[in-house]
Amino acid sequence: MTLFQAPKGTYDLLPPDSATFLAVREAIAAPVRRAGYGYVETPGFENVELFSRGVGESTDIVTKEMYAFTTRGGDELALRPEGTASVLRAALEANLHKTGNLPVKLWYSGSYYRYERPQAGRYRHFSQVGAEAIGAEDPALDAELIILAADSYRSLGLSGVRLLLNSLGDKECRPVYRAVLQDFLRGLDLDDDTRKRIEINPLRVLDDKRESVQRQLAGAPLISDHLCEACRAYHEQVRELLTEAGVGFEDDPRLVRGLDYYTRSTFEFVHDGLGSQSAVGGGGRYDGLSEMIGGPSLPSVGWALGVDRTVLALRAEGVALPLPPATDVYAVPLGEQARRTLFTAVTALRRAGVAADFAYGGKGVKNAMKSANRSGARFALLAGERDLAEGVVQLKDLQTGEQGPVALDEIVTTVKERLA
Ligand code: HAM
Repeated sequence: MTLFQAPKGTYDLLPPDSATFLAVREAIAAPVRRAGYGYVETPGFENVELFSRGVGESTDIVTKEMYAFTTRGGDELALRPEGTASVLRAALEANLHKTGNLPVKLWYSGSYYRYERPQAGRYRHFSQVGAEAIGAEDPALDAELIILAADSYRSLGLSGVRLLLNSLGDKECRPVYRAVLQDFLRGLDLDDDTRKRIEINPLRVLDDKRESVQRQLAGAPLISDHLCEACRAYHEQVRELLTEAGVGFEDDPRLVRGLDYYTRSTFEFVHDGLGSQSAVGGGGRYDGLSEMIGGPSLPSVGWALGVDRTVLALRAEGVALPLPPATDVYAVPLGEQARRTLFTAVTALRRAGVAADFAYGGKGVKNAMKSANRSGARFALLAGERDLAEGVVQLKDLQTGEQGPVALDEIVTTVKERLA
């Protein structure tokens, strides 16, 4: 029988690379935890309508990329293509906006699914770490989130991440701009599909990557010239707060995101070492989303950073994260009695918080020492019959080769001292 393979557009995370993934998730989560965001976890699937209404009927994510299915019981579900709609749904369902302080600040980490054409950096199953601040309209909150994201990239040692910033206006000024843009677009030489898009979602046309389209868009009206006074002032404050915090950004009045719920602040973090899939993270304000999914008015803002692409960015910059070894101590028994004694010692070390492993499978000393070296452990614990008769084991420093006896009842304290 042929061996099964992972489905198209997916890949497995395996040691040793998986350690870098965990470290990236951790590095993104650490700043948001320090800023008062609580952990939220929602199901991997939701009612399909949550996404079609939330993310938007006319987006690629909903029309082309959703893993939607009917269950045996007749429910219409979809694997989650993103996290924001689910997190807001969960917060509303639990009444967090009524029982706790506003904004409700939540962070999450998990798998997301989009039926996209797979290529480098674009997968059908991918990982995000996200943060959402629900129920407050305050430019400092937008700035907080952007600063936290920028800080996590910085803490990872990435230097090539650029921040693109835009405001998409609100329910006052956006419709006016939309009409002006539609007028302009209708006068261009475009194919039928794009003409349809002008009527449904004209802002998305600005995002068309084709050279023939981009050339015609050179003189397109920009949202930055059509913001109402309130949106302009709000955006200016966000920009000032970012500048004060030392977070650099590029104003990008053409920045349109692939989800329909955005209002006002929108942003994307891009990395130039990644080819066409350059967005390592993105987000923005979504003041109308709660009402779109049946909730009260709850202005909110958030982001999601792509873990897979952040790992690719680290690789592109040649940054190796300082990862602790999986094992500090590796035990190599010589004979049956030593096996029991060292197994007990390994358990005691682990209970004392020391990462320890053991040469399983009854291999010979030579093989066992090879495993010890390969494990990355700093020390090997060796014991033979003569050692045990003397009530000791041998502690060998695998970096220097030095070796010396340690009394059985002093293994844990000695190892901890030597590791410190
Ligand atoms: P998004 O821009 O669709 O936003 O996704 C955020 C990040 O997830 C992207 O910048 C990218 O790094 C990663 N990503 C998306 N699709 C893929 C894929 N097919 N393969 C690999 N990585 C991918 C959202 O999902 C919004 N929910 C963000 C947000 C939160 N807005 C407000 N709050």
